[in-house]
Parts: sequence; structure tokens; C-alpha cells
Amino acid sequence: MDRTYIRSLYAAPESFGGGKVELRGWARSVRDSKNIGFIELNDGSSQKNCQVVLDREALSDYEKIVHCGVGAALRVRGTVALTPGMRQPFELRAEEVEVEGPSLPTYPLQKKKHSPEFLREIAHLRPRTNLFGAVFRIRSQAAFAIHKFFNERGFVYVHTPIITGSDCEGAGAMFRVTTLEPGETDISKDFFGKRAALTVSGQLDVETFAMAFSNVYTFGPTFRAENSNTARHAAEFWMIEPEMAFCDLAGDMDVAEAMVKSVAEYVHETCAYEVEFLSERVCPELKDRFEALKGGDFVRLTYTDAVAVLKKAVSEGRKFEYPVEWGCDLQSEHERYLTETVYKKPVFLTDYPKEIKAFYMRLNDDGKTVAAADLLVPGIGELVGGSQREERLDVLERRMAECGLNAEDYGFYTDLRRYGGCVHSGFGLGFERLIMYLTGVSNIRDVIPFPRTVGNLEY
Ligand code: 4AD
Ligand code: MG
Repeated sequence: MDRTYIRSLYAAPESFGGGKVELRGWARSVRDSKNIGFIELNDGSSQKNCQVVLDREALSDYEKIVHCGVGAALRVRGTVALTPGMRQPFELRAEEVEVEGPSLPTYPLQKKKHSPEFLREIAHLRPRTNLFGAVFRIRSQAAFAIHKFFNERGFVYVHTPIITGSDCEGAGAMFRVTTLEPGETDISKDFFGKRAALTVSGQLDVETFAMAFSNVYTFGPTFRAENSNTARHAAEFWMIEPEMAFCDLAGDMDVAEAMVKSVAEYVHETCAYEVEFLSERVCPELKDRFEALKGGDFVRLTYTDAVAVLKKAVSEGRKFEYPVEWGCDLQSEHERYLTETVYKKPVFLTDYPKEIKAFYMRLNDDGKTVAAADLLVPGIGELVGGSQREERLDVLERRMAECGLNAEDYGFYTDLRRYGGCVHSGFGLGFERLIMYLTGVSNIRDVIPFPRTVGNLEY
């Protein structure tokens, strides 16, 4: 008999009613009420379990089965009985149960709610919980939705390198890649004969493809050696970076907004049960978040106006830990005040002071600000960082010098302005932050399978 997946049973219970099936999965709970037993079986194809009913009379090895232990792998053959009006639309009346591998009585995941902190210590077992089942099913659907969004719009998917010789963000927060032994300092003897590092962004590489294909994106792992131990920073995270030729900052924001809305819609559609579960268990505002994304435009506000809004709030008695002055980098408390208290929806902040942004952002006519756009969302803060790129060679070279970059390392980048340079824009969206936003999970460590953070490299 072929294996049936629990997902198929839920998709069309009537077509299975009265028929025989074989399920393979793991016991999420086992209950023995003398002559009748119940196993909640999960096979990973669905967030939902199938209830398996065990009849002592009908099963010669009943005792062994009801003592298989939570977590045991089972093969169950039986008849699907429809149970209209019950919590589950069907159950499986077992006729034959094989315990494929027993679980130990000390199995760490018993049928109760475990804290995310405890589950982080057993990250190899946590995918088996309802919480991580929901989060990682959503993560998978969201990744697919991103490719679908770009593919349907004719964007070319580009695989940018992970090992790089240039520093995109110019912040120096890079992990070095070397084959030199400790003490060896002659860089010419190193594997590449020059300094190498893990990429902090695929942007510079993907810009080269935008100048040939017009609309491109990269979606891959990114590494930052920042010493920020927060709930929103990881040393290894995934980033989606589209880049569009002949597109200005307004067009850039249009793409970011359409993409976030489209991914949210796809997740809401395909993971309705998971979203329901997470809004009950983790984040009561989650369903409102999805509703808000369906209607209404995101706010677009300049940095200068945002500073005015924040200063007004301070003058009216609002307390912030960090002061707000034009020119300062906004702190997460400021970002959250704007999205959660003032506008109650996603907000694009644009035209930041050039001093707090990267060298490649296009200088505005005021000479003080750059054509940047960060998207801030409730509950998370910064989700997207993007900009129109500086396409004027002389201005770009001046900015690079001001930022202390070595022009020789960026020859390929300035060439893009020499040959067919044009107005173009792009952005980077932190995939884990998007998953936090779509699941309501508040710590980045719980939306990536094996988190890498300062001082933590388990598994
Ligand atoms: O704002 P960032 O640094 O922008 C760039 O890297 C640009 N080169 C992107 C581009 O224009 N192509 O990073 C982009 C996004 C942030 O908004 C944030 O969501 C996420 O990446 N991010 C992180 N996510 C998790 N952990 C970290 N340490 C992150 N640093 C940035
Ligand atoms: Mg940023």
C-alpha cells in the first residue's frame, strides 16, 4: 500500500472516508484509556495531526503500541472514518501499527508548551514542535512567493558570490576568509593572494547584471560581523536584493511595497492555519497585520519630516532613551514610535543625511541628503534598506573618496557609470525580518534553522 500524507486527508476527507490508508509519521501524543487508545500522529506534510484510534480488541500488540512513547516513528494502516461535527473531520481506526523506532522516555519534547529559549538549546529537535512547524512552513512558502513575484515580472535571478573582495556597505563588519595559518601574515601567500571576506550584500555584483538585464534580483545568504546582540540581528541571514535599471527612488519603493504585499498575501492564502495558530499562540496582532497589508498604501515620509514628528512628540512629553536631532541615525525606539504609534502601518523613510548612509546612494540636489528609502514596519523596525544609486561618475568618485574607499577596488563599479550608466535603484530586504513580521515571532533566532549570533555557533 502506498503511503498517504495527512495533508491529502485534510484536502479531501470525503474521498478517503471508509477507505484504507497507510500513514507514516511520529506520535505527538499517546493516550491510553484502558480498552481504547489515541495517538496524535504528525507526518510533517501538514501542521495538523491525524488522530489514530487504537482498539485493544482489534490489536494484538496494543500494550506495546500505547507505550511507544511521544516522538516514536510509526507506520499505521487502518480505515478512515469521517467524524462530522467533531474537532477533526476524520480519524484513522488502526488495524495494524508498526513502531518503526521507539522514543525514549526522556524525550525532551513532551506534550506541553516549551519556551523558545529552551527550544533554542535543542535546535535539532525544535522543528518537531507546532511553533516551529508553523514558522518554517511559512518561511518556505514566503521564499517561493518571492521567486514567484519576481519571476512573474520578468526579473532575472542572479547568483551573486558569497566570497568577495569588496565591501559593499563600507562598514568593515566583514568576516575574513583565509587559508593562512595563525602567525602567517604574507597576504600574497593567502588562497586568493589578496584579502577575502564573506559578502555583506550582493548589491554591487547584482548592479552589474541590472546594466544588462534591466530587472534582476539576488536572494542568498549574507554575513555581518556586527557586535549587535539584539533580537533582530544575526551574523548570517538571508537577503533579497532587487536592482532595476531606468528606475528612480519612487519606482524602487513601488517594487518593495508590491513585493511585501504580494508575499504576505501568498502566505496568508497558503498558510491560513499556521497564521491562525500563530495569532492565537504568539502574536494577537498578526491577523490585523495581514488585513492592513491588503488595503491601503504604505506611508512615505522624508527623514527630515520624521525628525520633526519625533521632536514634536518629545516636546509633548514623549520620552525616548536616545535624543533626536537632525543628522542622527534613528534608533529602533524612534522607528517603532513612527510605525506603531503615529502611522500604525509600514512607513518608508526617505532622503536621509548622507553622513549616515552608504557611498553609493544618489546625492540629492540639496547636497546634504541622499535618495535612500528604508521601510519600517510595526513590531520589527527596519525591514528594507534601499536607494537610488549614484549614476554620475564624478559625484560617485567624490563620495567614494569622502568615505575613504580605495578607488582601485571599485574599478568594476565605476565602469558601470562609464559604459551605459543610467538611473537605477534597488533595495535589500532582510528575509528573517520579513518572517518575523509574517509570523509575529519576536526573536530572529527563532525564524532561522540554526542561528549564528555573537558568541553562538551551535550545530
Ligand atoms: O540596510 P542594509 O545594510 O542594506 C544593504 O545591505 C544594501 N546593500 C541593500 C541593497 O540596497 N541592495 O541591509 C538590508 C536589510 C535591512 O533592512 C535588514 O532587514 C537586513 O537587511 N539586515 C539584517 N537582518 C538580520 N541581521 C542583520 N545583522 C542584518 N543587517 C541587515
Ligand atoms: Mg539599513
